[in-house]
Amino acid sequence: MSNRLPVDRVVQADGTTDWAPSPGGLVTAVEPIVRELGCLWVGWAGSADEEVEPFEIGSMRLAPIPLSSEELETYYEGFSNGTLWPLYHDVISPPVYHRTWWDSYQRVNRRFADRVALEAAPNAVVWVHDYQLQLVPEMLRELRPDLTIAFFLHIPFPPRSLFAQLPWRRQIVRGLLGADVIGFQRVQDAVSFRQASERYAGVPARGNTIVLPESPDHPSRSVLAQEFPISIDAGGFEELASRAEVQQRAREIREELGQDRTILLGVDRLDYTKGIRHRLKAFEELLEDGEINAHDTVLVQVASPSREQVEAYQQLREEVEVTAGHINGAHGSIGHAPLVYLHQSYSREEMAALYLAADVMVVTPLRDGMNLVAKEYVACRADEGGALILSEFTGAADELRAALLINPHDIEALKAAMLRAIHLPREEQQRRMRSLRKAVYDNDVAHWATQYLEAVSAAADAHVKQAEG
Ligand code: F6P
Repeated sequence: MSNRLPVDRVVQADGTTDWAPSPGGLVTAVEPIVRELGCLWVGWAGSADEEVEPFEIGSMRLAPIPLSSEELETYYEGFSNGTLWPLYHDVISPPVYHRTWWDSYQRVNRRFADRVALEAAPNAVVWVHDYQLQLVPEMLRELRPDLTIAFFLHIPFPPRSLFAQLPWRRQIVRGLLGADVIGFQRVQDAVSFRQASERYAGVPARGNTIVLPESPDHPSRSVLAQEFPISIDAGGFEELASRAEVQQRAREIREELGQDRTILLGVDRLDYTKGIRHRLKAFEELLEDGEINAHDTVLVQVASPSREQVEAYQQLREEVEVTAGHINGAHGSIGHAPLVYLHQSYSREEMAALYLAADVMVVTPLRDGMNLVAKEYVACRADEGGALILSEFTGAADELRAALLINPHDIEALKAAMLRAIHLPREEQQRRMRSLRKAVYDNDVAHWATQYLEAVSAAADAHVKQAEG
């Protein structure tokens, strides 16, 4: 279960409805696993005030959970994306704490838990995903103690000093401790959670394990809280990028942008955590300094629409669009815009073609749980070409050590990395890309799921033993 299903219900201009792939890394990573396992996926279908009947896509069975427009405002835009998202991402934007949002978060988590309690077979494994559903594990355990419950947090878990701000920190920790296994992206996230467990639930960890003491209603049980860095279907992306039509499209993109120009590429949801402003600032300064010009270099920035009703996202869009206009106004010429800014979503095929066409991939988040775009770029580059600039504040930086690692706050360092990447000799590109590809293939999403599900199945065995007394 996750807040969103892997497809969103969209209403076309002519009033007909259709399904479109949902945005974000969660779906990119989890969909191939669910397809393979053929399980039931419970989540919201992407439009408010609508009851959608369960349906199937291939081997996946999808069970939509309805949300009212009021819940969209209070649970999704409010508590999930106005409170938790900024708090968990280093308070880049100030989190807002509203008691009405919290009430709604509890209500919607309860609805998800109730639905799964009805659907799950005896002793089933339920895998709950992400920050929108942190109360579900505890609620579900109360309803269905026979289930094995796994949770995976796709975003960072905040350090002690920040988590302490949350008025409902105890309830969140207790909610998560309802799971048998809690997976995190980075070591630091797991450490921060174990500290929070000690402080706010009074249960310290031994190594990666938190042992909950026996109570009058519950036997003692243990919870594994550990890092399991997520990944992508690397082979799937490479196969996509090898298709003749995708390669042809990559050639067309290069021709349209100018064969001799160096193409820099940024691909993000339009989110303030992604460091898009920092990236544009560095790019603009390089133009101002005369280090690059519109004839020799172009930056393609795909910023897919996201959370458009949340104020911080509206402000970001305005700032990015003013800056984009300024860059092209000041540094472009007829037929040569230095920046191609695209506030649109694209198909996987188009993304793969863009990755193939790009000489330099620029990934500059100020904080990111993992960042799968960096891994997608690497998986598509079977030609061992291209260069990856990667923020050290992404989970991916722990694995992709052969990238040009940068601190995005350090604009001078970012500019230097951009110049270095633009001029990176072919041999160095190859050497780095080979090492990056090894890292992505060594931990692809199948490997991630195997590791995680092995831990879950160990928990399930322990569960059975406990039930047998
Ligand atoms: O991984 C972060 C995440 O919030 C996912 O939970 C989500 O599916 C994705 O990004 C996109 O966000 P949203 O569902 O709010 O559009």
